[in-house]
This record gives sequence, C-alpha cells and structure tokens, in this order.
Amino acid sequence: MIDPNVQKTRSTTFEINDLIVNRWSPRSFLPEELSDETLFSLFEAARWAPSSSNGQPWRFIFAKRNSQHWNGLFNLLVDFNKQWCVNASALVVVLAKKTFEHNGQPISTRQFDTGAAWENLALQAVSEGLITHGMAGFDYEKARKDLAVPDDYEVVAMIAIGKVGPKEKLSPELQTREVPSTRKPLSELVMEGKFGNKAQLP
Ligand SMILES: Cc1cc2nc3c(=O)[nH]c(=O)nc-3n(C[C@H](O)[C@H](O)[C@H](O)COP(=O)(O)O)c2cc1C
Repeated sequence: MIDPNVQKTRSTTFEINDLIVNRWSPRSFLPEELSDETLFSLFEAARWAPSSSNGQPWRFIFAKRNSQHWNGLFNLLVDFNKQWCVNASALVVVLAKKTFEHNGQPISTRQFDTGAAWENLALQAVSEGLITHGMAGFDYEKARKDLAVPDDYEVVAMIAIGKVGPKEKLSPELQTREVPSTRKPLSELVMEGKFGNKAQLP
C-alpha cells in the first residue's frame, strides 16, 4: 500500500512496486537505537546487489548512536546535516573499491554498482518500516583520513538510518522541506535509439 503521506505528493505514470514509491528521505528521526540484527539486515540487502563481474566494490563503515564510534562519523557532516542527523540511529560511510580483486584492473562501474547496493539497502529499510537518507554533505577527505580508508577505496557517500519522527520536531525551515519529493516526467528521461529522440510513452 502506498503511504497516504507519500500519496499526497507522489503519483506514478505506470504501476510499480509500492516499496519504491514509499521510499523517501525524511530528516525527522526518532532518537532511538537500532538492533544489530536490524542494521545488518540492511547491509545484507546491499550485499545482494548486482555488479560488474560480480566485483562487489561496495563497503560500509557504520556507527550506531550512543556508541564510541558515533562522533567519528557525525563529525564528518556539514552543519546542515548535523542539525537533523543528531537523531539518526546509525550513520554509514559508503566506500567503493577502485580495482578488481582478481586482476587489479579499475572497476569503471564502481559508483554504479555501489549505487545499486545503496538502493537495495534503502528499499529493505522501507520494507522494515525504517527510513534512510543519503548524503554528500560531509568532508570526504576527513572521512578518508579519520576512518583510515586505504587509497584503493573511494569515499562515495554517507547514509543516515533510523525511524521516522514527527515533522514538528524539525526547525521551521526543515519542516517545509519534509515532503516526499516528485520526479521529472518519464518522457524527459527515456529516449529511443538515439540521444534526443524522446520515447513515445504507451
Ligand atoms: C548521494 C546523495 C547525496 C545526498 N546528499 C544530501 C545531503 O547532504 N543532505 C540532505 O539533506 N539530503 C541529501 N540527499 C537527499 C536528496 O536530496 C534526496 O534523495 C532527493 O531530493 C530525492 O528525494 P527522496 O530521496 O526523498 O526521494 C542526498 C541524496 C543522495 C542519493
């Protein structure tokens, strides 16, 4: 079932799985801890993503709230993200391995593959009643240094994970943005045969 809150702003041109429509990126989190079983079920979902030559370049460094590692990840965030991530249950830094283990050649699709893993994680979270929020607003170099990330791994993004909280707990500015976003029309995204040749939708 599509979440009634999501249905207010989102409609699809074709029928798709509700899980996909129900995934969005709230900023209001309940300041609660997640069990290891729950957190690892999300990494398990990420693990099953497809990747070029099954290279599986994705790696995840997590910190749970109230753990000794929390500040190390939280302090990477820009102030804008800190203001709402303070209530997240877990933060994750997503990495992508740059080279294949079997031959040392560059994995040119590492971001594509790792993006697939992140979406698996995000959809699994929705299916468990959890929320996720991807982030580029953090210090990538500090992440590399503070978390001892080796050169052969690219820092890709961060993710906040948790349970959705009341919108009213956010600042007035963030409350206005706490709405499931819309999307460009399909006709702008899909071309048939050649760039610029907009597909005729059925
Ligand atoms: C890689 C990535 C980086 C993002 N960076 C931030 C960020 O730093 N801060 C933030 O508040 N939202 C961030 N977002 C959330 C996006 O703005 C959001 O996913 C987008 O507006 C689509 O909305 P939806 O996820 O609710 O469908 C990021 C999302 C992704 C996937």
